[in-house]
Amino acid sequence: MSSTVQDRVEELREQIRYHNKRYHQDDDPEISDAEYDALVRELALLEEQHPELTADDSPTAQVGFAPSEMFAPVRHLSRMMSLDNAMSLEELNAWGKRMERFITGQIDFACELKLDGLAVSLIYEGGQLVRAATRGDGTVGEDITHNVLTIKSVPQQLQNAPPLLEVRGEVFMPVSAFTRLNELQARAGERLFANPRNAAAGSIRQKDSRITAGRELAFFAYQLGQVQQGPSFARHHQTLGYLKELGLPVNPENRVLPSLEAVHGYCQEWQEKRHSVDYEMDGVVVKVDDLAQRLELGATSKAPRWAIAFKFPPEERNTLLRDIMVSIGRSGKATPFAVLEPVRVGGSTVGLATLHNEDQVRAKDVRPGDTVIVRKAGDVIPEVVGPVLSLRKPDSQPWQFPRICPECGAALERAVGESDTYCTGSDCPKQREQRIVYFAGRGGLDIAGLGERTVQLFLHEGLLKDVSDIYNLDWARIRRMENFGDLSVQNLQNAIETSKQRPLANLLVGLGIRHLGGAGSQVLARAMGSLDKIIQASEEELAAVEGVGPVIATSLHTFFQQEHNRQLIERLRAAGLNFAGPGDPTLPQVLKGKSIVVTGTLEKYSREAAEEAIKARGGKSPGSVSKSTTAVVVGEAPGAAKLTKAQELKIPILDEAAFERLLETGSV
Ligand code: IVH
Repeated sequence: MSSTVQDRVEELREQIRYHNKRYHQDDDPEISDAEYDALVRELALLEEQHPELTADDSPTAQVGFAPSEMFAPVRHLSRMMSLDNAMSLEELNAWGKRMERFITGQIDFACELKLDGLAVSLIYEGGQLVRAATRGDGTVGEDITHNVLTIKSVPQQLQNAPPLLEVRGEVFMPVSAFTRLNELQARAGERLFANPRNAAAGSIRQKDSRITAGRELAFFAYQLGQVQQGPSFARHHQTLGYLKELGLPVNPENRVLPSLEAVHGYCQEWQEKRHSVDYEMDGVVVKVDDLAQRLELGATSKAPRWAIAFKFPPEERNTLLRDIMVSIGRSGKATPFAVLEPVRVGGSTVGLATLHNEDQVRAKDVRPGDTVIVRKAGDVIPEVVGPVLSLRKPDSQPWQFPRICPECGAALERAVGESDTYCTGSDCPKQREQRIVYFAGRGGLDIAGLGERTVQLFLHEGLLKDVSDIYNLDWARIRRMENFGDLSVQNLQNAIETSKQRPLANLLVGLGIRHLGGAGSQVLARAMGSLDKIIQASEEELAAVEGVGPVIATSLHTFFQQEHNRQLIERLRAAGLNFAGPGDPTLPQVLKGKSIVVTGTLEKYSREAAEEAIKARGGKSPGSVSKSTTAVVVGEAPGAAKLTKAQELKIPILDEAAFERLLETGSV
């Protein structure tokens, strides 16, 4: 095992402990739940793959549970039935017609998204979750209590619950979680899950619940089962309301509709927007809402007559994999992608699909010339699932990762123990282009108007070589170029000027230092106070910053050791970029005790940059004007309420020039 894995595990543990403290003890989390979950998942997976690294004091050991016994059989309190399917709206209508033979009068339909996960039954005794079971054969399921206890959205304790309550619902894996899981699986050379449903099933049917705990599963309740001494209800939707009151998650998209026409509308609407949510669905479950009507309808041996599953058409198609090529990113990373015979999948035409890295290509065993299954998963990102082996040509050969960069001809190399392959060219034009695009991108210096096309154009014209040239563009020449009118030149100039004042964390992100993301940059900027401090710091000092750790520290240190990077930094300094962090102690604290409100758009400062500049000098910058406001800085199109309030309270109003004097001198 390489020592980098161990380093990473320790770094993750340290980060998670730090964020646990911020969240639970300080009530002041620094990162989003999703970012936190990603750290925990990565750690759990590394520990799973390297059992020798597990430790009792690891944060993961405190989430999961001891390995369970074999799955014990669980007899369901009543049978868990399945559903009949309707493959078209006609079949849905036919189901409606059949029901008229059994009941007369108005029928209300409860419509629910048919989540693609697995059915479970939960038993609560005295409000406490005591048992969870899979459907199994419908009569006897498997005991998966330990694993279900690790699912965050399944409450372990219900408020005001009856002595016995059975709930049925779906355990599933959100699409985003599925994507991340497969990335980690491939990196580890492990087998990939074909879809979120398989991943959910594979995760819940584990002996060791620590594995389940690392696999972010979720749950929606869709049916009230047996209840002792509970309230009684006449309608299905009321039972769901009751489950929600008890604290169980119920899908908010459920609707009760008065006619089959309205049900059609619901089905069509969701078929179109099925990817607008972070879970997969394969249809709509339509249920009779009135529970007395359900009794009259009864069931066949397999399924109730009062419900049906309207199935969406599948979002998988077969097509020809014409070729596999690689694209080069800003760090030189060579990413293989599939060139497909264009095919309509899930409402759009797919011609290209990423294959992520060499291991993914190998894990999927896709080869040029194969007929492959293309699938629309999550959002709109198409994916190659795998080859149709029965259609593979006898002379087909496994694909080989190219040895040479298609952009610059330098060698492509993959380091031992890493999943990614890199272009080794020191002057690869594609890398250069992508670095500039990234620097000017959203997470970086956010320069509107400097996207990929413009960067390509400027590179082609010899106007740009590296990111520092952004601040020394030959505007006279740009004005002579096609597509650059006065207005677009002016806008780009303004955007570049504003970018100089972006927070230090954005600059750090923009530099594209390996392993350093948004969260790490913020922590660093705050802890070190300025770019110069970061550059001067030793590796140990950097690693000692809470939330940084050895991997990022080494990467930072290496980056700033390199002469060409140091020269770049000096050029950026000369261009006037902000090198000061939010708490730079070298800045005179001229605004201490002062409260400055900013409203409207300033020319040189984005809103966040203006607020950071105030805070960096010891001041406060609240969102509203009050008696204690020292001054209000007003840009273009200010908030009317703030302006009026400032005038009412006779608070000084500053323009941008006065604001800059204020930052320097502290006086209004
Ligand atoms: S009701 C007797 N509601 O679909 C009624 N099922 O093919 C049983 N499913 O095994 C199920 N979402 O795993 C119901 N809102 C929903 C559902 C749902 C997904 C699954 C469930 C069931 C399968 C039926």
